[in-house]
Amino acid sequence: MKAVAVRPGNPNSVHMVDAPMPKVSDIPDGRGVLVKVLKVGVDATDKEINEAKYGNAPEGCNYLIIGHEVFGLVQEVGPAVKHVKPGDYVTLTVRRPGNSIYDIIGTNDMTSESTYYERGINLRHGFMTEYVVDDLEFVVPMPKGLKHMHILAEPMSCAAKAIHQAYEAQRRLKVWRPKVAYVLGVGQIGLLATLVLRLRGIEVYSCARSPKGTINSKIVEGLGAHYVSTRETSLADLAAKVGKADLIIECTGSSASAFGAMEVLGLNGALVWTSVTGGQAKTEVPSDKINLDWVLGNKLLLGSVNGNREHFEMGIRYLSQGDLMYPGVMQQILTTPVRGLDNYQEMMRLLVEGKSLKVFLEVAEG
Ligand code: BGC
Ligand code: ZN
Repeated sequence: MKAVAVRPGNPNSVHMVDAPMPKVSDIPDGRGVLVKVLKVGVDATDKEINEAKYGNAPEGCNYLIIGHEVFGLVQEVGPAVKHVKPGDYVTLTVRRPGNSIYDIIGTNDMTSESTYYERGINLRHGFMTEYVVDDLEFVVPMPKGLKHMHILAEPMSCAAKAIHQAYEAQRRLKVWRPKVAYVLGVGQIGLLATLVLRLRGIEVYSCARSPKGTINSKIVEGLGAHYVSTRETSLADLAAKVGKADLIIECTGSSASAFGAMEVLGLNGALVWTSVTGGQAKTEVPSDKINLDWVLGNKLLLGSVNGNREHFEMGIRYLSQGDLMYPGVMQQILTTPVRGLDNYQEMMRLLVEGKSLKVFLEVAEG
């Protein structure tokens, strides 16, 4: 079976491998679900993995099959599987449990172990192949009516978790009704976070460098949010105009922006960092000023990674509601399909070129 892999540690090593065909019986206790892969999305993490800045192969293997955003069709299930059947559309979660208490209770996204297992990213093979098999716990049904959103389920799980975490943590305030949110970065996570915040009735300012007119800015406006070009209006100017934010979701991929965001958060606010920055960048910040403001303002900083099954289910509900509220808007994220596993080089070229909002591979029809 064809699969697209990298050799971690070697930059630009993306290549095709011949991987063994998985079977339902690979998973014990009749809990296996065999899925035919239809589509696989790629993002900045895949780019960093191919640049050898991030990611590790499974133990004893010299390659890592990439791909962690998957949409597929159930082919066959073991006798213990009741929640999906052959012919159903599904997505798969990314993390696989370690041994901490958080892993054991199904919240492997919150593992307290420093080693984490992620399909297509760290120590576990991914989904950029023809068939995958997994335990029923990690297979999440996708409604037929959301087929056109396919691989957005995984990035949406990350956006849904980031915002849900902020609400969970802000219970410290007894009452928290954020009115103004900033989303920094309008890549897929920024756009999906914008949707979630709009569905929660919040006034959203989604910020990025480009002037208005990009597809990203049109999607922001299609969701009833305000697009802000930071080349024209700095965050400080925005805060002076509309007030500091009650909630900021930072997803630019730039650690300088993550720290910069600390200066525009309002009193009792929450700042959520979601960017995975595998580089070595350093940045200078007005630390005395920030420290003082944050103490006097009871502000909260939260890091958020990944999403567990609950966040996938939550995210799929947001996608469904979003499709009803803003018909035709979210699917505009899916700009750049590449057909067939054989065209993986073209897929990587488009990803590295960085001009496309979303590159994804169409592996099979279905
Ligand atoms: C993935 C997450 C993962 C994170 C860190 C992201 O690109 O979407 O599922 O947890 O990278 O590896
Ligand atoms: Zn990702």
